[in-house]
This record gives sequence, structure tokens and C-alpha cells, in this order.
Amino acid sequence: MEILEEYKPFNSLSGFYLLTTNNKQKFLTWENEQYKFPVGPMGYIPKSGLCFHDLLMQGAKNKKVLDLGCGEMGIIALFSVIAGAQKVVAVDIDKKCIEWLTHIKEEYNLEKLITFKSDMFQNVRGIYDIIASNPPIMPMEYEAKNTIHDSGGCDGRVYLYKIIEEAYDYLNDNGCLYLSAFSFLGTDTQTGAQESLKEYALKLGYRSFDIVKNVIKPLSENSVTYKQLPYIKSIYPKMKEIQSGQKTAVEFQILRISK
Ligand SMILES: C[S@@+](CC[C@H](N)C(=O)[O-])C[C@H]1O[C@@H](n2cnc3c(N)ncnc32)[C@H](O)[C@@H]1O
Repeated sequence: MEILEEYKPFNSLSGFYLLTTNNKQKFLTWENEQYKFPVGPMGYIPKSGLCFHDLLMQGAKNKKVLDLGCGEMGIIALFSVIAGAQKVVAVDIDKKCIEWLTHIKEEYNLEKLITFKSDMFQNVRGIYDIIASNPPIMPMEYEAKNTIHDSGGCDGRVYLYKIIEEAYDYLNDNGCLYLSAFSFLGTDTQTGAQESLKEYALKLGYRSFDIVKNVIKPLSENSVTYKQLPYIKSIYPKMKEIQSGQKTAVEFQILRISK
């Protein structure tokens, strides 16, 4: 017997489901099971990556897309392929992520998808219309830096700076970067000692900086983000305190930074 359960990692997300088959294989599925991709051996099921869905469905058709830090399921790359992108390149530093996404590519004959291991842009060649990334953005003290999937370095901005700076040379004129971040990191407003990411991007020559999605993420008390809050507040003292019902919450945003 197959089991289909609604999958709603954030309140504002809808339309995604998890399908568990007889042999216990889990699939992420949406649009009446028209799209159905297997969860890999590491068991990562996209959460925040799902927030890129409508942006890519509307924007990726006929475009060259780079998914930077694609993860085990490569959800941003898969959305782009489904949207009808001309070519989609998906890279991750984690070899196991690339192995599983390559398996999906072969299993589903996704000819437009190219997968390979890369430390950020290191092995990336070519010019893209869209670079989309949901990078590690959790501020973590040095000792707590235990995972390449979460830690964005001491201030959570290590990858954001790197991606904003380096993406410029890999974008077409008029291309854009879709990048996720927490608002407390100082996206369009300064929340700590450093300038906002908006000021940083505009200073590098980008034409515009917009917050195109703002998702309220209530925190459970055993989540990594909740546990890191005292440390986060020490670095970003001007961060907004947000409540969602009884719970402390953070704002997860998608930025569109256009060249
Ligand atoms: C928050 S996960 C996002 C995964 C997926 N894109 C999604 O949205 O569900 C961040 C991903 O970035 C990858 N990553 C971390 N450091 C990286 C680096 N230096 N170069 C490329 N990828 C990296 C991690 O392995 C992880 O898969």
C-alpha cells in the first residue's frame, strides 16, 4: 500500500506531498503526482528550497540556469528542468549529493541537466541567465561548525558574500541571482556591524536588489535556528523579533539581485 501525506515544512507552502511506497522508498511529489522524485540515501527532503518553486516555474523557461549547492535532490535544478530551461547545471561540494542527483537525471532522462562536484564556482564554466542558490546561512560559532549543509560561518554570511561577489562574472547582462537568506542577516536593512547585503550588492555593480519572497518560519524549540538565537542576536543586535502564534519566528527570504 502506498501512503501519500501532505508535506508542509512552512505554513505558507502548499501542494507538496510525500509518497512512501511498499518498499519504503520515499518520493517528493506535486501537481497530482505528475512530478515525483525519489529521496536519496542521506534522507534530505528539501524544505526551504521549495520556496523557489513559483519563481523558477515563471522565470526559467528557455533560460540557462545554475543551481549552486544543489543538495541531494537538486530541487532547484529539477524545478528549472520542469519549467523548460534551455540548460541546467547543478553543482555541490558534497559528492554524495551529486551522485544521487546524477542517478535522478539518468533515471528520468533529464537531458538538459548537467551535474558535477564543485566548491562554489570552482569548476563552473559558462554564462547563465539565472543563478539560483539556497546556501548554508546559519551563523555558527567556530566550535559548532559541524555541517556543510547548514553553517554559513561565524556571521552566516560567508557564502552569501562569496556568491554575490563571484556570480557577477557568471551572469549574462540582464541575468539575475536568486539567493535565499534570513532577514536577520541584514538583507535590505543593516542589522549588525556590517552593511546590508543590498548595499554590498549594489556597490559591486548590480543594478537592483529586491526581496521577492518573504516566508515566516516559526521555530520549534529543538531546531538549529532556535538554539542559535542568543548567538545570532549577539551578532545582529538590530534584528527584528518576530512571533508567529506562540512561537518565535524568523523571516526566510528570497532575494533577486539583477545585473
Ligand atoms: C541548505 S542546503 C540546500 C540544498 C538544496 N539546494 C535545497 O534547496 O534543498 C546547502 C547545500 O550547499 C552545499 N554546499 C555547502 N558548501 C558548498 C560549497 N562550498 N560549494 C558548493 N556547495 C556547497 C551543501 O552540500 C548543501 O547541499
